Amino acid sequence: MTKPFLMEPYKIKSTEPLYFTTREYRKKVLEKAHLNLFLIPARDVMIDLLTDSGTGAMSQAQWSALLRGDESYAGAESFFRFESTIQKITGMPHIIPTHQGRSAERILLGALKTRGEYLLSNTLFDTTRANAGLLGFKVLDLPSEEMKDTKSEYPFKGNIHLEKLEQALQTHSVAGVIMTITNNSGGGHPADFENIKAAAELCKKYKAPFILDACRFAENAWFIKTRNKSFQNHSPRDIARKIFDLADMCYVSAKKDGLSHIGGFICLRDNQLFTDCKNRLIPLLGFSTYGGLAGRDLEAIAVGLEEALEEDYLHYRISSTAWFHGELKAASIPVVHPAGGHAVYIDVKKLTPHLSSSDHPAQAFAAGFYGFSGVRSCEIGSVMFGESYSQELVRLAIPRRVYTRSHLNYVIESLTQFQKEVQHLKGIEITWQPEVLRHFTAHFKWKDKTAHTSPA
Ligand code: F0G
Repeated sequence: MTKPFLMEPYKIKSTEPLYFTTREYRKKVLEKAHLNLFLIPARDVMIDLLTDSGTGAMSQAQWSALLRGDESYAGAESFFRFESTIQKITGMPHIIPTHQGRSAERILLGALKTRGEYLLSNTLFDTTRANAGLLGFKVLDLPSEEMKDTKSEYPFKGNIHLEKLEQALQTHSVAGVIMTITNNSGGGHPADFENIKAAAELCKKYKAPFILDACRFAENAWFIKTRNKSFQNHSPRDIARKIFDLADMCYVSAKKDGLSHIGGFICLRDNQLFTDCKNRLIPLLGFSTYGGLAGRDLEAIAVGLEEALEEDYLHYRISSTAWFHGELKAASIPVVHPAGGHAVYIDVKKLTPHLSSSDHPAQAFAAGFYGFSGVRSCEIGSVMFGESYSQELVRLAIPRRVYTRSHLNYVIESLTQFQKEVQHLKGIEITWQPEVLRHFTAHFKWKDKTAHTSPA
């Protein structure tokens, strides 16, 4: 039977209230939060598209698995279920639980510190970049040429630039090459199997560890299935396994394709690195069979990872994002092409030719759009990555199994209206910022108090 387009492959058993607010009220909220959407109480957000991380709805199978949680300090049964699920999916023998993705990064990158000066990547995520910097690594992002053109329909813009990769491997001392699948900071695009394979082969040739940041591994596998003809008859699980087989190690935030609210893990093949990572884990997060998680979290992740590989789930997940993307495109919103898996990205520069990078257009747009609609989005631009970053994107991330089509219709309608006023959008300036990861806590103000997004 053909799959019904866009029918959710689940029913809703439990609900959470959503609070309606007025534009006037949100103006005050925004001012109190110094125009930083991370500083807004979730209670004041109507549709929260800040992130797809840890914000998904768990299934009844996950909620019931929580009760099975074995909370023993060492050797809990929940750990062994978690471990064997991940071993089966990745084929890697050594599994270390961590409290989320960034602690996995910190531990793994710390253990790789002696192996070289540089980390190379298709594009590192912001926390990975921050951890790499704090550990003293130099970082080189080597995204595909196609990624620069936000209008191009190239299906695998998440690829790494292979020529540049080889050049960098020849000239630098490299501690690791990190392939982020899907490429979150670059537009949520997938990397193709052949590109991942070629990158892995280059790593082998130059003896650099090949690492996957695999937090959206199932979504990337689905894109390969649906966009690369050679894989159309393979299951997402099979494709995911073929990708993991290419890597020396991976780290994963279980808050994405683990369909869980917290958690992460590291997978390794190397015995020495396994020992080293465990030694770093214990003083920081806890014993190696819980890594900062409760036994019940390990259970929820084990079930979530399996569910994330189900075809009906992935079909719905990716086609509903594509539908959302298509509707925004039809409303002439300049979205980044093609549709990603976990988010739709708006190319704000195309809407704000009157603003320069020092006006932080994407941050201004995200703040203004919250005030206008109560929808929270996320800046991926000069605030997150610094003034030299060439793109000004606003990401509308879609939590898994949470919002229905009518919620997203509200977002589409609001963006359509907001777009009509956007030529009046004023720039913003930073009034305070911390030393690292400034986008989380920085304070901003409108450059011009008469900005329509800050109505009097
Ligand atoms: N790697 C990637 C590609 C990510 O997208 C994230 C988190 C992490 C690592 C870190 O994982 O949050 O569990 O510590 N991304 C979220 C986002 C926060 O909004 O895209 P974490």
